[in-house]
Amino acid sequence: MMNLQTQYLGFELKHPIIAGASPLPDDLDKVRALEDGGIAAITMYSLFEEQITQNIVGSEAHIGNYENSFSEAASYFPEVDLLERGVDVYLDQVQKVKAAVDVPVIGSLNGTREGEWVNYASLIESAGADALELNLYFLPTEMEESAAELEDRCIRIVQAVDARIQVPLAVKISPFFTALPHFAKRLAAAGADSLVCFNRFYQPDIDVDELDIRPMIDLSHSQELRLRLRWLAFLSGRIDTQLVVSGGVHNGIDVAKALMAGADAVQIVSSLLINGPEQVKSMLDELCKWMEKKGYNSIDELRGCMNYLRCPDPEALERANYMRVLKSWRV
Ligand SMILES: Cc1cc2nc3c(=O)[nH]c(=O)nc-3n(C[C@H](O)[C@H](O)[C@H](O)COP(=O)(O)O)c2cc1C
Repeated sequence: MMNLQTQYLGFELKHPIIAGASPLPDDLDKVRALEDGGIAAITMYSLFEEQITQNIVGSEAHIGNYENSFSEAASYFPEVDLLERGVDVYLDQVQKVKAAVDVPVIGSLNGTREGEWVNYASLIESAGADALELNLYFLPTEMEESAAELEDRCIRIVQAVDARIQVPLAVKISPFFTALPHFAKRLAAAGADSLVCFNRFYQPDIDVDELDIRPMIDLSHSQELRLRLRWLAFLSGRIDTQLVVSGGVHNGIDVAKALMAGADAVQIVSSLLINGPEQVKSMLDELCKWMEKKGYNSIDELRGCMNYLRCPDPEALERANYMRVLKSWRV
């Protein structure tokens, strides 16, 4: 019997496959179906800073201050009705999801500016969330804000959120930081117990018939995993947080690759939306078969076996690799 047990954010999970933040927890039947399908933990969809700010200061001030970031968020997530609902509805749903299942439930808070909204971290905890994921989803659109200032702001937000909760904190980030390993290390020191790598950016297209911007949400493909594998391999064993892959995990082999690169767990969303909760079992079957074939008995043996730790200078290796890849092309 294969041992797939995984420790994540202090929980003993039966295996490493978690439902990432998605609209699924809005429907309690879907939540129960996820648990019946064997999912190890469930992440809520996000409560957005913009929703909270609206709650605090009223809609007029909200629209003036947050117009740009809100439209960005709205184009990111098409579930506008989820966004329009208030904070109370969110907290209520956390409570209901928690009551509906036995697996750990992770709340999700999504914001990028400093402000009172961070206080809502403790309300999500009080509503019953076993852990909190803070999503720092943003695009750097300010001409005057430097990379260092932007990172400092993120760090202060993580510290502020961490100070308000007792439960473990995961931080979901994008891959687009100038010096990701250094920033990741700072996030760990600021209180992140886990890094969720990475956000996917939803890139609006231009509609040439309507002469308008068209918000686009495409589900992911396995190819997107490679960006995550690369960075996890660099971070694994070198920073003091757990690491989770979000983005491009679609089958059991993808899970194996993520673990080998150093993931403590994986999150899946697109794959669940496409295939339904039964997908968890088929991923686990495929993972176990592969592990058996390769002689692994537990995922602890597997975890991090392909990370860059044994290499004294990963950057040089990566650059040499780049050169080799380019030179391997034959015309
Ligand atoms: C319809 C939809 C809604 C999502 N809602 C959220 C959200 O509320 N908060 C969040 O942090 N991520 C959200 N995400 C992003 C996912 O959690 C995940 O990071 C992304 O889909 C990549 O994982 P995947 O390749 O398994 O889909 C959403 C994704 C989709 C497709």
